[in-house]
Amino acid sequence: MLQIENIHATVADKPILNGVSLAVPAGEVHAIMGPNGSGKSTLAYVLAGRPGYAVSEGGVTFLGRDLLAMEPHERAAAGLFLGFQYPVEVPGVSMLQFVRESLNTQRRARGEPELSGAEFIKLARSQAEALGMDAEMLKRPVNVGFSGGEKKRAEMVQMGIINPKFAVLDETDSGLDIDALKSVGAGINRIMRAPDKGVLLITHYQRLLDYVEPDRVHVLQAGRIVRSGGPELAHSLEREGYAEAAA
Ligand SMILES: Nc1ncnc2c1ncn2[C@@H]1O[C@H](COP(=O)(O)OP(=O)(O)OP(=O)(O)O)[C@@H](O)[C@H]1O
Ligand SMILES: [Mg+2]
Repeated sequence: MLQIENIHATVADKPILNGVSLAVPAGEVHAIMGPNGSGKSTLAYVLAGRPGYAVSEGGVTFLGRDLLAMEPHERAAAGLFLGFQYPVEVPGVSMLQFVRESLNTQRRARGEPELSGAEFIKLARSQAEALGMDAEMLKRPVNVGFSGGEKKRAEMVQMGIINPKFAVLDETDSGLDIDALKSVGAGINRIMRAPDKGVLLITHYQRLLDYVEPDRVHVLQAGRIVRSGGPELAHSLEREGYAEAAA
């Protein structure tokens, strides 16, 4: 459902991605691992369409459409969701307002009816509950004063409400305590494990993959996929490090 072909991308005129190719078929979860600075977040931003990330070569097809030709909001309406490594704070806008606006904008773009206030609150509460987040937090400004782990959990609540077709999750496990890791892992499975959905899971550790078992694992190094394999690749990386992986 997502085909990345030979992507070369620069940030501030610096080449970061040097020919990344990767395909995630519907129904699969793929993990991307790799050293700090290898370009994992850059790839996530290129997929989401963040300004400042210039693609000089290659292309991306998402559900049969040319993803790179689409505006960021069109990508979201088409069903692409990005979970940020560093979730942004939005002072003055409550999480409820923010997610409701995002969801209804996407629904309008797809020609679907908007959710009423009551329907939306019900949905938001059930998703917060499913992820073990106090529903009162939904009334607070987006991520403002949230702890690191609360921000990550809040992003999964947003994902549950938005119910995307494809999620790119950038180090969603970082900063989570042991219980939160378990509930976020279960949340990813509950929301995204379906025959018509897909996930690209960027992570440094096996711990999240214990809960969300990947179908494939890719190693990104210096802006290239240097190795791909099954779930056992993550285990061997944890034992042996990246020097072995590239060999
Ligand atoms: N605005 C920028 N200007 C210059 N270099 C940048 C800019 N943004 C990113 N980079 C560089 O691009 C490289 C890749 O960064 P990226 O955030 O994609 O790495 P990453 O694989 O996600 O690392 P981590 O595991 O630490 O999250 C890094 O060397 C980074 O310094
Ligand atoms: Mg990163």
